[in-house]
Amino acid sequence: MTEKQLDGTAGTTPTPPMVMPTDWKQVKFATPTDEDMNALAQLRSGSDPWKVRGETHAESLEALTKLRPFIAVGKFNGTVCGYVTIERDGPVPGAAYLRNIVVKPEFRQKGLGHVLLEQGLSVARDMNRKTLALRVDPANGPAVSFYRKAGFTTVATVVSKKSGKLRLLMSREL
Ligand SMILES: CC(C)(COP(=O)(O)OP(=O)(O)OC[C@H]1O[C@@H](n2cnc3c(N)ncnc32)[C@H](O)[C@@H]1OP(=O)(O)O)[C@@H](O)C(=O)NCCC(=O)NCCS
Repeated sequence: MTEKQLDGTAGTTPTPPMVMPTDWKQVKFATPTDEDMNALAQLRSGSDPWKVRGETHAESLEALTKLRPFIAVGKFNGTVCGYVTIERDGPVPGAAYLRNIVVKPEFRQKGLGHVLLEQGLSVARDMNRKTLALRVDPANGPAVSFYRKAGFTTVATVVSKKSGKLRLLMSREL
């Protein structure tokens, strides 16, 4: 007798394992430690859009080291689960700038991105900014949907100086 027959589900579609809602209120934000920087570089180089561009761990670490003062790292049960960067100035005059937001792959589509974004919005408000701007690759579907859902609208289409590719410039009020 198989396990399915024992639990009485033979011949029916197996019930997926129950996913417990995660209490993201337990996520703690801080500036990154040296050890965190390596975890963040791993997260960034292993995530699109950087992964598809072939960015190496060393390149991610170099980029994140420049951004270090602007990073808020989120930890869940003491482990890095994502990060967000907020700079006071960016491509839109007078608006704060969100350059990176990344959720650890296994935690995606569970509301953690929203929690990281709320942290970013709060940092931008503390900078006395009224608007938060960002640039996103229009081919990055999950990110574009995520930003739209969070109330960002496209204010311009710009050409990236680095890649020559099109980017959406999006913003929202704080
Ligand atoms: C973009 C990103 C931060 C979103 O984080 P997340 O934790 O998955 O987002 P959430 O679970 O909070 O989702 C909030 C909303 O975003 C949208 N969304 C998120 N992921 C999506 C996906 N893969 N496809 C379509 N919509 C998506 C949905 O509207 C979702 O709302 P819903 O759950 O009510 O449907 C995450 O996908 C990520 O880390 N991507 C890689 C890095 C990246 O591209 N960053 C942005 C450029 S810097």
